[in-house]
Amino acid sequence: MSRGVPRRFYARDVFCPELMANTVLVGAQWGDEGKGKVIDYLTDRVDVVVRSQGGNNAGHTVVVGDTKYILRLIPSGILRPGKICLIGNGVVVDPISLCEEIAELRGQGVEISSRNLLISDAAHLVFPYHKLIDEQRELAHGRNKIGTTKRGIGPAYGDKIARVGIRLGDLLEPELFRERLESRIQEVNWLLQQYGSKPIDWRELGDQYLATGEQLQDMITNTVLALHRLMDSQKEILFEGAQGTFLDIDHGTYPYVTSSNTTAGGACTGSGVPPNRIDRVVGALKAYTTRVGEGPFPTENQELSDLLHSMGREIAVNTGRKRRCGWFDAVATRFAVMVNGIDEMAVTNLDGLDSLETIKICVAYERDGKKVDSPPTCVRKFKRCTPVYIDVPGWKEPTTSARSYDDLPKNARLYLEKICELAGTKLSLVGVGQKREQTIVVR
Ligand code: IMP
Repeated sequence: MSRGVPRRFYARDVFCPELMANTVLVGAQWGDEGKGKVIDYLTDRVDVVVRSQGGNNAGHTVVVGDTKYILRLIPSGILRPGKICLIGNGVVVDPISLCEEIAELRGQGVEISSRNLLISDAAHLVFPYHKLIDEQRELAHGRNKIGTTKRGIGPAYGDKIARVGIRLGDLLEPELFRERLESRIQEVNWLLQQYGSKPIDWRELGDQYLATGEQLQDMITNTVLALHRLMDSQKEILFEGAQGTFLDIDHGTYPYVTSSNTTAGGACTGSGVPPNRIDRVVGALKAYTTRVGEGPFPTENQELSDLLHSMGREIAVNTGRKRRCGWFDAVATRFAVMVNGIDEMAVTNLDGLDSLETIKICVAYERDGKKVDSPPTCVRKFKRCTPVYIDVPGWKEPTTSARSYDDLPKNARLYLEKICELAGTKLSLVGVGQKREQTIVVR
Protein backbone atom coordinates (compact mmCIF):
# COMPACT_ATOMS: atom_id res chain seq x y z
CA MET A 1 0.00 0.00 0.00
CA SER A 2 1.30 3.47 -0.79
CA ARG A 3 2.76 5.36 2.13
CA GLY A 4 3.07 9.11 2.52
CA VAL A 5 0.05 10.98 1.23
CA PRO A 6 -3.06 8.82 1.82
CA ARG A 7 -4.30 7.17 -1.36
CA ARG A 8 -7.92 7.37 -2.39
CA PHE A 9 -8.16 3.62 -2.84
CA TYR A 10 -6.07 0.58 -3.49
CA ALA A 11 -6.73 -1.13 -6.78
CA ARG A 12 -4.44 -4.16 -6.76
CA ASP A 13 -7.11 -6.75 -5.96
CA VAL A 14 -9.89 -5.48 -8.09
CA PHE A 15 -9.87 -4.33 -11.69
CA CYS A 16 -11.91 -1.26 -11.74
CA PRO A 17 -11.24 0.90 -14.77
CA GLU A 18 -13.13 3.84 -13.26
CA LEU A 19 -10.66 3.85 -10.37
CA MET A 20 -7.08 4.11 -11.47
CA ALA A 21 -4.50 4.86 -8.76
CA ASN A 22 -0.89 5.09 -9.94
CA THR A 23 -0.56 2.49 -12.67
CA VAL A 24 2.37 1.21 -14.67
CA LEU A 25 1.62 -0.19 -18.10
CA VAL A 26 4.32 -2.50 -19.45
CA GLY A 27 4.71 -4.54 -22.60
CA ALA A 28 4.80 -8.24 -21.72
CA GLN A 29 6.49 -9.35 -24.96
CA TRP A 30 9.05 -7.83 -27.36
CA GLY A 31 7.31 -4.49 -27.78
CA ASP A 32 4.48 -3.47 -30.13
CA GLU A 33 1.88 -5.12 -27.90
CA GLY A 34 -0.69 -2.48 -28.81
CA LYS A 35 0.18 -0.41 -25.75
CA GLY A 36 -0.83 2.84 -27.50
CA LYS A 37 -4.44 1.72 -27.58
CA VAL A 38 -4.44 0.45 -23.98
CA ILE A 39 -2.72 3.62 -22.78
CA ASP A 40 -5.25 5.74 -24.62
CA TYR A 41 -8.04 3.87 -22.88
CA LEU A 42 -6.46 4.05 -19.41
CA THR A 43 -5.48 7.70 -19.87
CA ASP A 44 -9.11 8.69 -19.76
CA ARG A 45 -9.10 7.62 -16.09
CA VAL A 46 -5.96 9.46 -14.90
CA ASP A 47 -4.70 13.02 -14.60
CA VAL A 48 -1.07 12.60 -15.60
CA VAL A 49 0.70 10.38 -18.16
CA VAL A 50 4.44 9.76 -17.91
CA ARG A 51 7.03 8.32 -20.30
CA SER A 52 9.99 7.09 -18.29
CA GLN A 53 12.32 5.24 -20.67
CA GLY A 54 13.29 4.72 -24.29
CA GLY A 55 13.30 7.36 -26.98
CA ASN A 56 11.93 7.86 -30.46
CA ASN A 57 12.65 4.18 -31.16
CA ALA A 58 9.09 3.71 -29.88
CA GLY A 59 5.99 4.33 -31.95
CA HIS A 60 2.45 4.26 -30.63
CA THR A 61 -0.52 4.48 -32.97
CA VAL A 62 -3.80 5.80 -31.64
CA VAL A 63 -6.88 6.02 -33.84
CA VAL A 64 -9.54 8.49 -32.73
CA GLY A 65 -12.57 8.60 -35.02
CA ASP A 66 -11.05 8.61 -38.50
CA THR A 67 -7.80 10.26 -37.46
CA LYS A 68 -4.63 8.30 -36.89
CA TYR A 69 -2.04 9.79 -34.55
CA ILE A 70 1.51 8.48 -34.35
CA LEU A 71 3.38 9.20 -31.15
CA ARG A 72 7.07 8.58 -30.68
CA LEU A 73 8.22 10.51 -27.61
CA ILE A 74 5.12 12.31 -26.42
CA PRO A 75 2.78 10.34 -24.13
CA SER A 76 -0.51 9.56 -25.83
CA GLY A 77 -2.32 11.38 -23.01
CA ILE A 78 -1.66 14.48 -25.12
CA LEU A 79 -4.67 13.49 -27.23
CA ARG A 80 -7.03 13.94 -24.26
CA PRO A 81 -7.69 17.56 -23.30
CA GLY A 82 -6.92 18.38 -19.68
CA LYS A 83 -4.28 15.69 -19.16
CA ILE A 84 -0.74 16.55 -18.15
CA CYS A 85 2.00 14.64 -19.98
CA LEU A 86 5.56 14.23 -18.78
CA ILE A 87 8.72 13.01 -20.45
CA GLY A 88 10.82 11.78 -17.53
CA ASN A 89 14.53 11.77 -16.74
CA GLY A 90 14.89 8.14 -17.94
CA VAL A 91 13.98 9.01 -21.54
CA VAL A 92 16.56 9.87 -24.20
CA VAL A 93 15.33 12.77 -26.30
CA ASP A 94 16.21 13.64 -29.88
CA PRO A 95 15.01 17.26 -29.71
CA ILE A 96 14.77 17.63 -33.48
CA SER A 97 12.48 14.63 -33.70
CA LEU A 98 10.53 15.92 -30.67
CA CYS A 99 10.00 19.35 -32.28
CA GLU A 100 8.83 17.60 -35.48
CA GLU A 101 6.42 15.44 -33.48
CA ILE A 102 5.01 18.51 -31.73
CA ALA A 103 4.57 20.27 -35.08
CA GLU A 104 2.88 17.21 -36.65
CA LEU A 105 0.43 16.87 -33.75
CA ARG A 106 -0.31 20.61 -33.70
CA GLY A 107 -0.96 20.28 -37.46
CA GLN A 108 -3.59 17.65 -36.58
CA GLY A 109 -5.24 20.09 -34.18
CA VAL A 110 -3.69 18.82 -30.91
CA GLU A 111 -2.92 21.58 -28.44
CA ILE A 112 0.59 21.31 -26.96
CA SER A 113 2.17 23.78 -24.55
CA SER A 114 3.83 23.87 -21.14
CA ARG A 115 0.32 23.53 -19.69
CA ASN A 116 0.10 19.92 -20.86
CA LEU A 117 3.66 18.81 -21.69
CA LEU A 118 6.67 18.89 -19.37
CA ILE A 119 10.09 17.50 -20.25
CA SER A 120 12.74 16.55 -17.72
CA ASP A 121 15.85 18.72 -17.63
CA ALA A 122 17.75 15.55 -16.67
CA ALA A 123 16.71 13.57 -19.76
CA HIS A 124 19.71 12.88 -21.99
CA LEU A 125 19.96 14.21 -25.52
CA VAL A 126 20.31 12.05 -28.61
CA PHE A 127 22.68 13.61 -31.17
CA PRO A 128 23.25 12.76 -34.84
CA TYR A 129 26.57 11.17 -33.89
CA HIS A 130 24.69 8.64 -31.75
CA LYS A 131 22.77 7.62 -34.86
CA LEU A 132 25.97 7.37 -36.90
CA ILE A 133 27.62 5.20 -34.24
CA ASP A 134 24.47 3.04 -34.00
CA GLU A 135 24.57 2.46 -37.79
CA GLN A 136 28.30 1.78 -37.86
CA ARG A 137 28.11 -0.71 -34.99
CA GLU A 138 25.31 -2.56 -36.73
CA LEU A 139 27.37 -2.70 -39.92
CA ALA A 140 30.40 -3.96 -38.00
CA HIS A 141 28.28 -6.70 -36.36
CA GLY A 142 27.31 -7.99 -39.82
CA ARG A 143 25.36 -11.22 -39.43
CA ASN A 144 25.22 -10.72 -35.66
CA LYS A 145 23.60 -7.31 -35.83
CA ILE A 146 20.94 -6.45 -33.25
CA GLY A 147 18.52 -4.98 -35.78
CA THR A 148 18.23 -1.64 -33.97
CA THR A 149 15.93 1.16 -35.08
CA LYS A 150 19.11 3.19 -35.89
CA ARG A 151 17.76 6.08 -33.83
CA GLY A 152 20.97 6.29 -31.78
CA ILE A 153 19.34 4.92 -28.64
CA GLY A 154 22.13 2.54 -27.53
CA PRO A 155 24.98 5.07 -27.99
CA ALA A 156 22.96 7.81 -26.23
CA TYR A 157 22.32 5.61 -23.17
CA GLY A 158 25.98 4.51 -23.43
CA ASP A 159 27.08 8.14 -23.01
CA LYS A 160 24.70 8.57 -20.09
CA ILE A 161 26.13 5.56 -18.24
CA ALA A 162 29.72 6.56 -19.13
CA ARG A 163 28.92 10.01 -17.66
CA VAL A 164 29.76 11.89 -20.84
CA GLY A 165 26.16 12.58 -21.93
CA ILE A 166 24.59 16.02 -22.45
CA ARG A 167 21.17 16.69 -20.99
CA LEU A 168 18.12 18.67 -21.99
CA GLY A 169 18.64 21.15 -19.18
CA ASP A 170 22.04 21.99 -20.70
CA LEU A 171 20.23 23.48 -23.68
CA LEU A 172 19.02 26.25 -21.37
CA GLU A 173 22.63 27.23 -20.58
CA PRO A 174 24.05 27.99 -24.06
CA GLU A 175 27.62 28.62 -22.91
CA LEU A 176 27.84 25.49 -20.82
CA PHE A 177 26.14 23.50 -23.58
CA ARG A 178 28.66 24.64 -26.23
CA GLU A 179 31.54 23.82 -23.90
CA ARG A 180 30.22 20.31 -23.23
CA LEU A 181 29.45 19.68 -26.88
CA GLU A 182 32.87 20.83 -28.06
CA SER A 183 34.60 18.56 -25.59
CA ARG A 184 32.35 15.59 -26.42
CA ILE A 185 32.78 16.04 -30.18
CA GLN A 186 36.55 15.69 -29.90
CA GLU A 187 36.27 12.06 -28.84
CA VAL A 188 33.30 11.44 -31.14
CA ASN A 189 35.18 12.72 -34.21
CA TRP A 190 38.09 10.44 -33.41
CA LEU A 191 35.66 7.50 -33.28
CA LEU A 192 33.88 8.57 -36.49
CA GLN A 193 37.25 8.77 -38.21
CA GLN A 194 37.89 5.11 -37.30
CA TYR A 195 34.57 4.25 -38.96
CA GLY A 196 35.52 6.30 -42.04
CA SER A 197 32.70 8.82 -41.41
CA LYS A 198 32.95 12.59 -41.85
CA PRO A 199 33.80 14.61 -38.71
CA ILE A 200 31.06 16.70 -37.11
CA ASP A 201 31.19 20.50 -36.91
CA TRP A 202 30.25 21.10 -33.27
CA ARG A 203 29.41 24.79 -33.85
CA GLU A 204 26.81 24.03 -36.51
CA LEU A 205 25.36 21.19 -34.46
CA GLY A 206 25.35 23.38 -31.36
CA ASP A 207 23.36 26.11 -33.12
CA GLN A 208 20.84 23.59 -34.40
CA TYR A 209 20.32 22.08 -30.93
CA LEU A 210 20.19 25.43 -29.14
CA ALA A 211 17.42 26.46 -31.55
CA THR A 212 15.38 23.42 -30.43
CA GLY A 213 16.14 24.40 -26.82
CA GLU A 214 14.53 27.78 -27.48
CA GLN A 215 11.41 26.08 -28.85
CA LEU A 216 11.16 23.70 -25.90
CA GLN A 217 12.37 25.93 -23.09
CA ASP A 218 8.99 26.54 -21.44
CA MET A 219 8.44 22.81 -21.16
CA ILE A 220 11.88 21.84 -19.81
CA THR A 221 11.77 21.57 -16.03
CA ASN A 222 12.56 19.42 -12.99
CA THR A 223 9.84 16.83 -13.63
CA VAL A 224 10.60 14.94 -10.40
CA LEU A 225 9.42 17.92 -8.36
CA ALA A 226 6.49 18.49 -10.73
CA LEU A 227 5.38 14.86 -10.36
CA HIS A 228 5.60 14.91 -6.57
CA ARG A 229 3.58 18.12 -6.46
CA LEU A 230 0.96 16.49 -8.66
CA MET A 231 0.87 13.39 -6.43
CA ASP A 232 0.59 15.56 -3.33
CA SER A 233 -2.52 17.10 -4.84
CA GLN A 234 -3.97 13.57 -5.30
CA LYS A 235 -3.46 13.43 -9.04
CA GLU A 236 -3.31 9.94 -10.49
CA ILE A 237 -0.58 8.83 -12.80
CA LEU A 238 -0.24 6.39 -15.65
CA PHE A 239 3.28 5.36 -16.59
CA GLU A 240 3.28 4.37 -20.21
CA GLY A 241 5.97 1.85 -20.97
CA ALA A 242 7.74 1.75 -24.29
CA GLN A 243 9.09 -1.44 -25.90
CA GLY A 244 8.54 -4.67 -23.93
CA THR A 245 9.86 -6.96 -21.19
CA PHE A 246 12.15 -9.04 -23.43
CA LEU A 247 13.81 -5.90 -24.80
CA ASP A 248 14.81 -4.85 -21.25
CA ILE A 249 18.54 -4.21 -20.93
CA ASP A 250 18.71 -6.40 -17.77
CA HIS A 251 15.89 -8.92 -18.15
CA GLY A 252 15.55 -9.25 -21.91
CA THR A 253 17.22 -11.42 -24.52
CA TYR A 254 20.57 -9.65 -24.18
CA PRO A 255 22.26 -8.46 -26.37
CA TYR A 256 19.17 -8.41 -28.62
CA VAL A 257 17.53 -5.77 -26.46
CA THR A 258 17.12 -2.02 -26.27
CA SER A 259 19.24 0.04 -23.87
CA SER A 260 16.72 0.95 -21.17
CA ASN A 261 14.74 -0.78 -18.42
CA THR A 262 11.47 -1.53 -20.14
CA THR A 263 10.20 -3.52 -17.13
CA ALA A 264 8.07 -2.00 -14.36
CA GLY A 265 11.03 -0.86 -12.21
CA GLY A 266 12.09 1.50 -15.01
CA ALA A 267 8.95 3.57 -14.35
CA CYS A 268 10.34 4.54 -10.93
CA THR A 269 13.98 5.21 -11.80
CA GLY A 270 12.98 6.95 -15.02
CA SER A 271 10.60 9.36 -13.30
CA GLY A 272 11.67 9.81 -9.68
CA VAL A 273 8.43 8.32 -8.36
CA PRO A 274 9.27 5.86 -5.56
CA PRO A 275 8.14 2.20 -5.77
CA ASN A 276 5.79 2.60 -2.79
CA ARG A 277 3.70 5.09 -4.80
CA ILE A 278 2.92 2.52 -7.51
CA ASP A 279 -0.43 0.82 -6.94
CA ARG A 280 -0.71 -1.62 -9.81
CA VAL A 281 0.93 -2.95 -12.92
CA VAL A 282 -0.99 -3.71 -16.10
CA GLY A 283 0.68 -5.84 -18.77
CA ALA A 284 -0.07 -5.43 -22.46
CA LEU A 285 0.06 -8.55 -24.56
CA LYS A 286 -0.87 -9.43 -28.11
CA ALA A 287 -3.10 -12.49 -28.55
CA TYR A 288 -0.10 -13.82 -30.50
CA THR A 289 3.57 -12.73 -30.37
CA THR A 290 5.67 -10.41 -32.54
CA ARG A 291 9.19 -9.05 -32.52
CA VAL A 292 11.21 -6.77 -34.78
CA GLY A 293 14.95 -7.00 -35.07
CA GLU A 294 17.11 -10.03 -34.43
CA GLY A 295 17.23 -12.42 -31.47
CA PRO A 296 15.57 -15.58 -30.17
CA PHE A 297 11.87 -16.07 -30.73
CA PRO A 298 10.90 -19.71 -30.07
CA THR A 299 7.30 -19.52 -31.28
CA GLU A 300 8.06 -17.67 -34.54
CA ASN A 301 5.95 -19.07 -37.35
CA GLN A 302 6.23 -18.22 -41.02
CA GLU A 303 2.63 -19.12 -41.93
CA LEU A 304 1.23 -16.91 -39.20
CA SER A 305 3.61 -14.09 -40.24
CA ASP A 306 2.46 -14.42 -43.87
CA LEU A 307 -1.20 -14.42 -42.84
CA LEU A 308 -0.89 -11.32 -40.65
CA HIS A 309 1.22 -9.43 -43.21
CA SER A 310 -1.30 -10.30 -45.95
CA MET A 311 -3.96 -8.66 -43.76
CA GLY A 312 -1.79 -5.49 -43.74
CA ARG A 313 -0.93 -6.04 -40.06
CA GLU A 314 2.37 -6.14 -38.21
CA ILE A 315 4.30 -3.53 -40.15
CA ALA A 316 6.24 -1.32 -37.68
CA VAL A 317 4.79 2.23 -37.55
CA ASN A 318 8.10 3.88 -36.95
CA THR A 319 10.47 2.10 -39.31
CA GLY A 320 8.16 0.35 -41.79
CA ARG A 321 9.81 -3.00 -41.00
CA LYS A 322 7.74 -6.19 -41.16
CA ARG A 323 7.47 -7.73 -37.72
CA ARG A 324 8.30 -11.39 -37.13
CA CYS A 325 5.15 -13.19 -35.89
CA GLY A 326 4.53 -16.30 -33.82
CA TRP A 327 2.15 -18.04 -31.41
CA PHE A 328 1.39 -17.04 -27.83
CA ASP A 329 4.26 -18.06 -25.53
CA ALA A 330 3.21 -18.93 -21.96
CA VAL A 331 6.80 -19.53 -20.82
CA ALA A 332 7.91 -16.02 -21.74
CA THR A 333 4.66 -14.44 -20.50
CA ARG A 334 4.91 -16.13 -17.07
CA PHE A 335 8.38 -14.63 -16.71
CA ALA A 336 7.03 -11.20 -17.73
CA VAL A 337 4.26 -11.47 -15.13
CA MET A 338 6.86 -12.37 -12.48
CA VAL A 339 9.50 -9.76 -13.22
CA ASN A 340 7.03 -6.88 -13.65
CA GLY A 341 4.57 -7.93 -10.93
CA ILE A 342 1.75 -7.77 -13.48
CA ASP A 343 -1.63 -7.64 -11.73
CA GLU A 344 -3.79 -7.69 -14.86
CA MET A 345 -3.41 -8.23 -18.55
CA ALA A 346 -4.75 -6.26 -21.49
CA VAL A 347 -4.81 -8.60 -24.49
CA THR A 348 -4.80 -6.78 -27.82
CA ASN A 349 -5.11 -7.79 -31.48
CA LEU A 350 -7.46 -10.69 -30.76
CA ASP A 351 -9.01 -10.04 -34.19
CA GLY A 352 -5.71 -11.01 -35.84
CA LEU A 353 -6.58 -14.65 -35.08
CA ASP A 354 -10.20 -14.46 -36.26
CA SER A 355 -9.77 -16.60 -39.40
CA LEU A 356 -7.89 -19.53 -37.90
CA GLU A 357 -9.22 -23.08 -37.64
CA THR A 358 -6.74 -24.08 -34.94
CA ILE A 359 -4.50 -21.95 -32.72
CA LYS A 360 -1.26 -23.06 -31.10
CA ILE A 361 -0.24 -22.12 -27.56
CA CYS A 362 3.31 -22.70 -26.37
CA VAL A 363 3.16 -24.20 -22.85
CA ALA A 364 6.84 -25.10 -22.36
CA TYR A 365 10.17 -25.19 -24.17
CA GLU A 366 12.41 -28.14 -24.86
CA ARG A 367 16.17 -27.92 -25.06
CA ASP A 368 18.50 -30.84 -25.64
CA GLY A 369 15.70 -33.27 -24.83
CA LYS A 370 14.84 -31.55 -21.52
CA LYS A 371 11.77 -29.55 -20.57
CA VAL A 372 12.44 -25.86 -19.88
CA ASP A 373 9.93 -23.79 -17.85
CA SER A 374 11.52 -20.34 -17.98
CA PRO A 375 13.38 -18.32 -20.63
CA PRO A 376 17.14 -19.01 -20.35
CA THR A 377 19.32 -16.00 -19.51
CA CYS A 378 21.90 -17.03 -22.09
CA VAL A 379 20.77 -16.13 -25.57
CA ARG A 380 22.55 -19.13 -27.11
CA LYS A 381 20.58 -21.49 -24.88
CA PHE A 382 17.42 -19.52 -25.62
CA LYS A 383 18.01 -19.92 -29.36
CA ARG A 384 18.17 -23.71 -28.92
CA CYS A 385 14.74 -23.85 -27.21
CA THR A 386 11.91 -25.32 -29.24
CA PRO A 387 8.28 -24.76 -28.27
CA VAL A 388 5.99 -27.45 -26.86
CA TYR A 389 2.50 -26.65 -28.15
CA ILE A 390 -1.07 -27.45 -27.34
CA ASP A 391 -3.73 -26.88 -30.01
CA VAL A 392 -6.98 -25.09 -29.26
CA PRO A 393 -9.91 -24.54 -31.64
CA GLY A 394 -10.25 -21.16 -33.35
CA TRP A 395 -13.54 -19.23 -33.58
CA LYS A 396 -13.54 -18.46 -37.32
CA GLU A 397 -15.72 -15.36 -37.11
CA PRO A 398 -14.97 -11.64 -36.85
CA THR A 399 -14.57 -10.20 -33.36
CA THR A 400 -14.11 -6.59 -34.48
CA SER A 401 -17.66 -5.52 -33.70
CA ALA A 402 -17.75 -7.10 -30.22
CA ARG A 403 -18.23 -4.43 -27.56
CA SER A 404 -18.64 -6.59 -24.46
CA TYR A 405 -16.95 -9.75 -23.28
CA ASP A 406 -20.14 -11.73 -23.86
CA ASP A 407 -20.23 -10.56 -27.51
CA LEU A 408 -17.05 -12.55 -28.15
CA PRO A 409 -17.39 -16.06 -29.63
CA LYS A 410 -17.14 -18.79 -26.99
CA ASN A 411 -13.85 -20.17 -28.35
CA ALA A 412 -12.31 -16.69 -28.28
CA ARG A 413 -13.26 -16.35 -24.59
CA LEU A 414 -11.87 -19.81 -23.87
CA TYR A 415 -8.64 -18.88 -25.64
CA LEU A 416 -8.26 -15.65 -23.65
CA GLU A 417 -8.99 -17.41 -20.38
CA LYS A 418 -6.49 -20.17 -21.21
CA ILE A 419 -3.62 -17.82 -22.01
CA CYS A 420 -4.22 -15.74 -18.86
CA GLU A 421 -4.45 -18.88 -16.74
CA LEU A 422 -1.14 -20.15 -18.18
CA ALA A 423 0.47 -16.74 -17.63
CA GLY A 424 -0.79 -16.63 -14.06
CA THR A 425 -2.68 -13.36 -14.25
CA LYS A 426 -6.14 -11.82 -14.64
CA LEU A 427 -7.66 -10.59 -17.88
CA SER A 428 -8.85 -6.99 -17.73
CA LEU A 429 -9.09 -5.59 -21.27
CA VAL A 430 -9.41 -7.05 -24.74
CA GLY A 431 -8.62 -5.18 -27.97
CA VAL A 432 -10.48 -6.19 -31.14
CA GLY A 433 -9.32 -3.45 -33.52
CA GLN A 434 -7.42 -0.18 -33.70
CA LYS A 435 -10.30 2.16 -32.87
CA ARG A 436 -10.91 3.56 -29.42
CA GLU A 437 -14.32 1.90 -29.19
CA GLN A 438 -12.88 -1.52 -30.08
CA THR A 439 -11.84 -2.06 -26.47
CA ILE A 440 -13.66 -4.50 -24.21
CA VAL A 441 -13.50 -4.17 -20.42
CA VAL A 442 -13.61 -7.52 -18.65
CA ARG A 443 -15.27 -7.19 -15.28
P1 IMP B 1 17.13 0.15 -30.39
O1 IMP B 1 16.17 0.41 -29.27
O2 IMP B 1 16.88 1.01 -31.59
O3 IMP B 1 18.55 0.17 -29.94
O4 IMP B 1 16.86 -1.34 -30.92
C1 IMP B 1 17.18 -2.49 -30.14
C2 IMP B 1 16.14 -3.58 -30.33
O5 IMP B 1 14.91 -3.16 -29.78
C3 IMP B 1 15.86 -3.93 -31.79
O6 IMP B 1 15.56 -5.31 -31.89
C4 IMP B 1 14.63 -3.12 -32.12
O7 IMP B 1 13.88 -3.67 -33.17
C5 IMP B 1 13.89 -3.22 -30.79
N1 IMP B 1 12.98 -2.11 -30.55
C6 IMP B 1 13.26 -0.85 -30.17
N2 IMP B 1 12.15 -0.11 -30.03
C7 IMP B 1 11.13 -0.93 -30.31
C8 IMP B 1 9.71 -0.76 -30.31
O8 IMP B 1 9.16 0.30 -30.01
N3 IMP B 1 8.99 -1.86 -30.64
C9 IMP B 1 9.55 -3.05 -30.93
N4 IMP B 1 10.86 -3.26 -30.94
C10 IMP B 1 11.65 -2.21 -30.63
